[in-house]
Amino acid sequence: MHRATIVVASNSIVLTPPTEQLKLVMDQHRTIIEPFKIKSVEPLTIMSRAERAPLLHKAGYNLFALSAEHVTFDFLTDSGTTAMSANQWAAMMVADESYAGSRSFAKFERVVRALTGHQFVIPTHQGRAAERLLCEALVKPGMKVPSNNHFDTTRANIEFAGGEAVDLVIAEGRDPTSQHPFKGNIDLAGLDAFLAANREVVPFGMMTLTNNTGGGQPASLENIRAVAALYKKHRVAFIIDACRFAENAYFIKLREDSQRDRSVREIAQEVFSLADGCYMSAKKDALVNIGGFIALHNKEWIESLRALLILTEGFPTYGGLAARDLEAMAVGLEEVLDEQYLSYRLAVSRYMAEGCNRIGIPTVQPAGGHAVYIDAKRFLPHIPPHEFPGQSLVCELYLAEGIRSCEIGSAMFGKFAAGSFVPAQMELVRLAFPRRVYTQSHFDYILEGLAELVARKGSLRGMRLTYDPPLLRHFTATFEPL
Ligand code: F0G
Repeated sequence: MHRATIVVASNSIVLTPPTEQLKLVMDQHRTIIEPFKIKSVEPLTIMSRAERAPLLHKAGYNLFALSAEHVTFDFLTDSGTTAMSANQWAAMMVADESYAGSRSFAKFERVVRALTGHQFVIPTHQGRAAERLLCEALVKPGMKVPSNNHFDTTRANIEFAGGEAVDLVIAEGRDPTSQHPFKGNIDLAGLDAFLAANREVVPFGMMTLTNNTGGGQPASLENIRAVAALYKKHRVAFIIDACRFAENAYFIKLREDSQRDRSVREIAQEVFSLADGCYMSAKKDALVNIGGFIALHNKEWIESLRALLILTEGFPTYGGLAARDLEAMAVGLEEVLDEQYLSYRLAVSRYMAEGCNRIGIPTVQPAGGHAVYIDAKRFLPHIPPHEFPGQSLVCELYLAEGIRSCEIGSAMFGKFAAGSFVPAQMELVRLAFPRRVYTQSHFDYILEGLAELVARKGSLRGMRLTYDPPLLRHFTATFEPL
């Protein structure tokens, strides 16, 4: 296949001059290298556009319906797609698979307690299982749950319980062009006013770290402290959605002057200590393929949560997982705090965002932690929101490059109200990067292909919904090109 020649900074991940001081893996070099060696590999499928076109048509132009074997670069999600380390695999082999009281649970519990400071640890099979337990136990019809931005499964679980998920991210967090270093912050005045008016119907308040829906943007320690103080003032329990806590903590270290000399572990520990509890999809920053947990500081809710857990997930010492999954999480929660790993991790998304910007693809600024979010509204101004510009780009990225990405815009969040379509606030396309899976040459190859796409973007057309499911539309909806 012919590829346009573009200038990519070099054959390695290079940092532009420090708007933030990324700590370098090798002190004298500007290059951040993958801080691992590869011990086990799997083949990559490479197909032509002509081969991909009928597959996309058959999938109803929804990439969730594609077979993964037909995808070259799977950037659908960073969730559960991590390459585990030799130490994680080794730990899995020594797991104790006892139904009750397993040694592996004790190890997992020790690690979670040491990290979060919370005593009561409930394993769950993934993040949304934790969300469902919390919502089923605590959210009643008419209640409201504030956060910076709720992730879609969080919102769906709150709504399924009859509640309302309220987003209170700062104004900069809704502006894809703003360079604010902590666009995942909560609007403090807005939260104070919201709690003053609603505290009787707030079962708990939240904060998502990093703020996935808003672009993988971090919240500052200063803001998290202030949010915690407001929840305390209004006597509302504070629960952190901690999926990407380590990436958030590393952003704090890089961007918050007063935190530069602390370790990521210390920062993360303080963040957890500010809340009454947390839940986590371990499929992100615990570096595993499946798993999750809830950790709480006091036992008030534990009985009802454990009762629901036993009913639908499993006994409290395995919670829907195999003990080997608990072992892998225990090791992953330690590994993820390695600052060489985190500096490489954030360099990947930064490199891809800067590469996109250089060839004329606008992305949410600044680069988030786990993903690049292309601003499809600005990139494809000729496609109006009700024709799903993000979904159109997602389909083209697949046809042209074999990339599987995810629309986070009107296909995901647009609503039909009183016969008309209310679009989402932003039309984003997320390229989420699996942890420790793809290498530098993959990313350079993709940037070459994207440069070709830029040249013919005017030929892209909008999409029409052909099936609209009642919940979580993006997973099962189908489309057709206009
Ligand atoms: N909260 C956040 C912030 C998430 O990003 C996710 C999952 C969840 C909760 C739910 O966790 O998948 O383990 O049930 N996000 C994935 C993503 C799916 O692609 O961003 P889960």
